[in-house]
Amino acid sequence: VTAGPGPAAVAAWPDPKALWYLDRAAGLVLLVLLTVAVALGQASVRYGGRPGRDRRLPRFLAVDLHRNAALLGLSLLAVHVGTAVADDFVDITVVDAVLPFGSPYRPVWLSAGTLALDLLVAVAVTTALRRRLGPAGWRVVHRSGLAAWALAVGHGLGTGSDIRRPWVLALVFGCVAVVGAATVLRLQSAPGLSRGLRAAACLLVLTAPLVTAGWLRAGPLQADWGHPAGTPAPAGGHR
Ligand code: HEM
Repeated sequence: VTAGPGPAAVAAWPDPKALWYLDRAAGLVLLVLLTVAVALGQASVRYGGRPGRDRRLPRFLAVDLHRNAALLGLSLLAVHVGTAVADDFVDITVVDAVLPFGSPYRPVWLSAGTLALDLLVAVAVTTALRRRLGPAGWRVVHRSGLAAWALAVGHGLGTGSDIRRPWVLALVFGCVAVVGAATVLRLQSAPGLSRGLRAAACLLVLTAPLVTAGWLRAGPLQADWGHPAGTPAPAGGHR
């Protein structure tokens, strides 16, 4: 017979770090959902079955899964922000979640997440108002979803406490590979771009993961990254 948890363990429940763990888990799942939404959005331009175009991507992927992954991502973003604000290990307010550079906690990397949130809200609002805006205005804002995704990756790598775990690193680079491939494919069907510009953009997309890997080695993968990232003293042991 195994003994149950002792009185000390029972007294320590719920774990005071539960919100913090939930926040980090929500961040990772959120990144995967955003990746699915962004990659399918890009693929749907080329393969999404617009009249007279290639229809290799079925509608449930091109439209339904794209939209549902984005909506689920927004709901999870609320959980991610809510738990970050409610958790008292770090000093982050609701205002810091929408206005960059307010929180003292890893300000540059947290602000990348804040800007990603602002862009995603703009994408969601303009999609809801799409009929009033017209396709041209909607498209301009909708394309910033890719920038939001890139900012979110920078945020996750720069501030994430789990980034030194191999499976987390593999997950993030998996997301980068999926969106990178979708972006290269998307660039092939960008009519306004000259061949030279298209090749330069593809080169940029392909070299970005290498540059990121170099930066990770010199920065976030180092044991003392919390200090240069801007971790205030009370939260120092939290990573
Ligand atoms: C689209 C927007 C966002 C995405 C995709 C995202 C994603 C992530 C990811 C992947 C992580 C790393 C989790 C880990 O290492 O286990 C993370 C960490 C975190 N994010 Fe976000 N995030 C976003 C926006 C925000 C915003 C607006 C806030 C502001 C409240 C925020 C606060 C945090 C905090 C406090 C952490 C934990 C930092 C740490 O581990 O020290 N995120 N996020």
